Amino acid sequence: MTISIASATGLTGTPETDELTARIAGDLPKDFVWGSATSAYQIEGATTQDGRGPSIWDTFARTPGKTRNGESGAVAVDHYHRYQADVALMAELGLSAYRFSVAWPRVVPTGSGPVNRAGLAFYDRLVDELLAVGIDPWITLFHWDLPQPLQDLGGWANRETAHRFAEYADHVATALGDRVRHWSTLNEPWCCAFEGHLTGRHAPGVQSAHAAVRSVHHLMLGHALGVEALRARGAGDVGITLNLIPAESPEDSAAAREAVRLVDGQTIRLWLDPLLRGRYPEDVVADLARAGARLPVEDGDLDRIAAPLDWVGINYYAPHIVVPGPDPDPAPLPFVAADNVTRVKSTDDVTALGWPIRPRSFAALLRRLAVDYPGTTWYMHENGAAYLDEPIADGSVPDPERLRYLALHLDVVREVVQEGVDVRGYFVWSLMDNYEWAEGYQMRFGMVHVDFDTLVRTPKSSALWYSRLIREHRAANG
Ligand code: FCB
Repeated sequence: MTISIASATGLTGTPETDELTARIAGDLPKDFVWGSATSAYQIEGATTQDGRGPSIWDTFARTPGKTRNGESGAVAVDHYHRYQADVALMAELGLSAYRFSVAWPRVVPTGSGPVNRAGLAFYDRLVDELLAVGIDPWITLFHWDLPQPLQDLGGWANRETAHRFAEYADHVATALGDRVRHWSTLNEPWCCAFEGHLTGRHAPGVQSAHAAVRSVHHLMLGHALGVEALRARGAGDVGITLNLIPAESPEDSAAAREAVRLVDGQTIRLWLDPLLRGRYPEDVVADLARAGARLPVEDGDLDRIAAPLDWVGINYYAPHIVVPGPDPDPAPLPFVAADNVTRVKSTDDVTALGWPIRPRSFAALLRRLAVDYPGTTWYMHENGAAYLDEPIADGSVPDPERLRYLALHLDVVREVVQEGVDVRGYFVWSLMDNYEWAEGYQMRFGMVHVDFDTLVRTPKSSALWYSRLIREHRAANG
């Protein structure tokens, strides 16, 4: 370890963030979960090692023009070989939980059939390493890296994939269920369905409303069958992780409200309604039908999808800001039947990806979820910001913008928790800089800087601040 968190100096706050830090640490309940998150393809590398099979992201990244400079996760940040040092760093930061994903192509390289013991063994070692330093593992089973052989059979547009997912969930729960308590079935199925199958900006790069909408339902079904498999193996704390991006408009007109309804329907209600209310929202089903697409629901599916969950994980970064009217942007909006909706490029505070920083939108989202889906327990499974951070002359990596973003959003969590919204934990996206999908390695989301040539890790000021916050929270709670 090149840096000791406890003794590190450098910028870890401003008067504004110091004030926020004190009240976040003072107000959040004693058992609040402090974590960070990553995903397999974005950090592991070693994509051909120990019997791992190909995933759709390997294929997609190899396809010319799909990712920035053709970059892939072939090496990523080599976490597969450096996991012990990475866990030691998490322990130094004082994290109580770590959310990571298991790579399906490591566990079932051909998508169906035999389990690859050598692949599972990596997660076995990782889980033991985490537990040895008192960090609670939170596993996500599917964070987008579908085995390529399943894509060759139609991928998520094929109902059979949901069954293959349940088999895979069973294998992982059998191997790790004695030590892992928290299980998320899917990460952001919206992205997989819509960016993967409608815009084609993500793997598998399909552009078809029909395939996107079939994928929606098969992802929901896969979730349901996965939950059943996990529960059958005794898993006690099971949920799903959704990107719940609120839609809002600077205009106040019937047409603007209609644009908001359409976008909100496909990002939020299309997922939470079947999971928590047992039905797909009628207005969204009608929007999909306008594009000639239909959810392939079979008898009994909705009952299974609505089986009780222990929590829902929320990924939130920024709202969608929309206005009515045809979109002049050549990159299509990722929604079915959104031909009359334009996304506004926000001119206010934005991150390096151009994502607007609007903590008030985040607060409104959490309050609205508590009202619309009462009785649900929530965790913040991802929240963070991309910047182009680099080390300065003394070797430290100041990232005051990220630190401020995290403090502002955690203060929102504090505020709504005090009002009674049931948010029980917060996971920063991300522990360290990594492969940001089609954006490649340019956009850095980490609290820990990674030099992509040497793979050296250096905690940024946001990591030092987060560590301080966790310690202050512990001190405030005896
Ligand atoms: C989310 C993904 C995660 C990461 C962040 C920035 O959509 O779940 O893998 O790419 O965005």
